[in-house]
Amino acid sequence: MRIKVNIPEATSGDFRIEHVTTDSYCGSPEPMDTYTVLFNEHHNIMQDTTREYVEHEQFLKSVYGDILIAGLGLGMINQPLMDNPNVKSVTIIEKFQDVIDMVWDHCPKNKKFRLIHDDIYKWDIDSKFDIGWFDSWVGERPHEEYKKVMVEKYGPYCREIMFWNSQNDIDFENNVHGQLRFVLPKQVSGAISVTTHNNKEK
Ligand SMILES: C[S@@+](CC[C@H](N)C(=O)[O-])C[C@H]1O[C@@H](n2cnc3c(N)ncnc32)[C@H](O)[C@@H]1O
Repeated sequence: MRIKVNIPEATSGDFRIEHVTTDSYCGSPEPMDTYTVLFNEHHNIMQDTTREYVEHEQFLKSVYGDILIAGLGLGMINQPLMDNPNVKSVTIIEKFQDVIDMVWDHCPKNKKFRLIHDDIYKWDIDSKFDIGWFDSWVGERPHEEYKKVMVEKYGPYCREIMFWNSQNDIDFENNVHGQLRFVLPKQVSGAISVTTHNNKEK
């Protein structure tokens, strides 16, 4: 299964969109096809591969209510969020104007969507959410640290916080049906749990 995007090739500042024909990506086999890839100056940060679908699958299956998304990327998950009648609103925070310029006009969206050009580490939170999906990490600090910072900042504003899981994760207690889940510390009030998804390389 795959969510194929329709974003034209482009370059803006340090970012570019390329269409790459391949049968493997990030060390995983893929059906031979043409994939859309978002690169920054150093490496690929998003691609519409089957592997990315798998990493978003649990989130997409469990999502409901008011959703906060860290990182626009290719807008790959927009269509399933639009199609889901349980999703009331989607707020996307994207730091880089170059990414917005190349992607936003071409990705699916409707009146449920709000795009905010800001840094997820700094955004002045303006409402509460049912689920926060944090997919903005691009290697700027250890992923463990990213998760802790996001939980501290957004825990009081999100009923549930979800991440994909890098292989180095060590501080999550229970592995439940392929997810790693733990109850947040008491001082992070208002949040229920953190869920991480397995096996993603960036
Ligand atoms: C893996 S992609 C997100 C994929 C997206 N969920 C999709 O459906 O295509 C990560 C995105 O986060 C953005 N990003 C990186 N650092 C950020 C930050 N500090 N605040 C907000 N967005 C950030 C990147 O520019 C990129 O667009």
